Amino acid sequence: MLKPIKLVNKNFLSSLDTSTEEFFHILEIAENFKNKNLNIEFKNKVLGLIFDKSSTRTRVSFQVAMSRLGGTTVDLNPTTSQIGRGEPIRDTARVLSRYCDVLAIRTFKQSDLEEYAKWSSKPVINALTDLEHPCQALADYMTIKEEFVDFKNVVLTFIGDGNNVANSLILCGALLGVEVRIACPKGYEPNALVIQKAYEIYQNENLLKITNDPNIAALGANVLYTDVWSSMGEENKKEEKDKRFNGFTINQDLVSKADENAIILHCLPAYRSKEITDEILESKKSRIFEQAENRLHAQQALLSCLLDGVDLRAG
Ligand code: CP
Ligand code: NVA
Repeated sequence: MLKPIKLVNKNFLSSLDTSTEEFFHILEIAENFKNKNLNIEFKNKVLGLIFDKSSTRTRVSFQVAMSRLGGTTVDLNPTTSQIGRGEPIRDTARVLSRYCDVLAIRTFKQSDLEEYAKWSSKPVINALTDLEHPCQALADYMTIKEEFVDFKNVVLTFIGDGNNVANSLILCGALLGVEVRIACPKGYEPNALVIQKAYEIYQNENLLKITNDPNIAALGANVLYTDVWSSMGEENKKEEKDKRFNGFTINQDLVSKADENAIILHCLPAYRSKEITDEILESKKSRIFEQAENRLHAQQALLSCLLDGVDLRAG
């Protein structure tokens, strides 16, 4: 009988906080939650949500995941708690981890997230930072596995800004041995340390390619993935980035260069006619809403591998 196994690392701050085996395990647990083959209870467990940036999917999927597990969430809006007043992270983390059983944090700096984890006595989950979005990548690879059964020979091409979403796709790609191609304008390449870490993990260095040419990157790809050009916190760069990313839109022309059975992914929210056309987002190739649904199942699985629950099937 499949049971969630506790992750060796207490926290999930980065895609590299799981081993390859643990990543596959989370995906398997997620598939079982999705197919309603698992019934784990986290009665009275509380997930604290600290979101310094807006969110629809991540916040709600965590809330629903905890609710389905019999637990609950506390949404600690930084503007109405003392966080917004500048209470030090080390104090907030020590207090909240005495009330909550796990914390999911969306913030700007990865170092702030790490500071929370350092002072929290309970697991901390990265709900998006400027550097990574590991919960998103869990759902993304779950969606890819649903489509292609396994990751053998899958080519994932990300076209857009080489920041949080791209960084996590790269790191998970390295863990899973998936060929990942990133196409971005010059100056918007993924984080150098992320690339270095990925190359250290990949057994074959040809499996990670960074290019400034979306047409080359799209050739024969099985998955075309994009994200917004201007991320949260970059609102003042919108005009400049719209110009720099001209030519990086996933449109019919680019899709025609990919494999004929290619699927389209987007983490959402999307700006139609910027990074993706409406036609492609709404096309038969799009798995974007399946991907969004999988956030729920993947996070339910993640929580069950971080918390102690009761397996209700055990009687
Ligand atoms: N993809 C994603 O993280 O969406 P939200 O910003 O709505 O949480
Ligand atoms: N790169 C985007 C992802 C949104 C889910 C951002 O950081 O705003």
